Amino acid sequence: MKIVLCGYMGSGKSSVGKLLASELGLEFIELDQEIEKIEKRYISEIFSEKSEIYFRKKESEVLKNVLKEEKSMVISLGGGTPCYANNLEILQQNEEVTLIYLKVSVEKLTDRLFSEKATRPLIAEISSEEKLEEFIRKHLFERQFYYMQSDLILDTTTMKLTEIVAI
Ligand code: S3P
Repeated sequence: MKIVLCGYMGSGKSSVGKLLASELGLEFIELDQEIEKIEKRYISEIFSEKSEIYFRKKESEVLKNVLKEEKSMVISLGGGTPCYANNLEILQQNEEVTLIYLKVSVEKLTDRLFSEKATRPLIAEISSEEKLEEFIRKHLFERQFYYMQSDLILDTTTMKLTEIVAI
């Protein structure tokens, strides 16, 4: 069994994943952290020193390798993972995988991400909260097409971490 969490940046994939894995007694893998370990640099450095294209290739490679591991686990993806290469197809075709989309409103994402944007290269340069909200609205609209193909869609906008994990 592989429980895979997807969703926009700031949707709580890591926090939910960590707690869920510990409740279920499973290993927790964060895809971004795996990439950072292999590349020996932060995601923001991979973007600036290599490129986004390089990052997307690595992301896809690391996802495939993680899915090959023969054990049950909880995996949290990066916000863009299901939207690039054939990652979504690979997740959907893997019978072990249950893909869960953590859906969060644009307003809440903006609120969470404004203070944390420095570590996220795609939004780091956006100067105001209004501009960030506008960016997220458009970006999420494009990405929703992929996220919505998950096995389970959880609107977690008003849910507490413990409530989400209890589902
Ligand atoms: C990205 C999200 C990030 C990270 C990278 C690109 C995206 O992960 O993979 O900065 O394309 O949405 P989080 O969703 O964990 O922030």
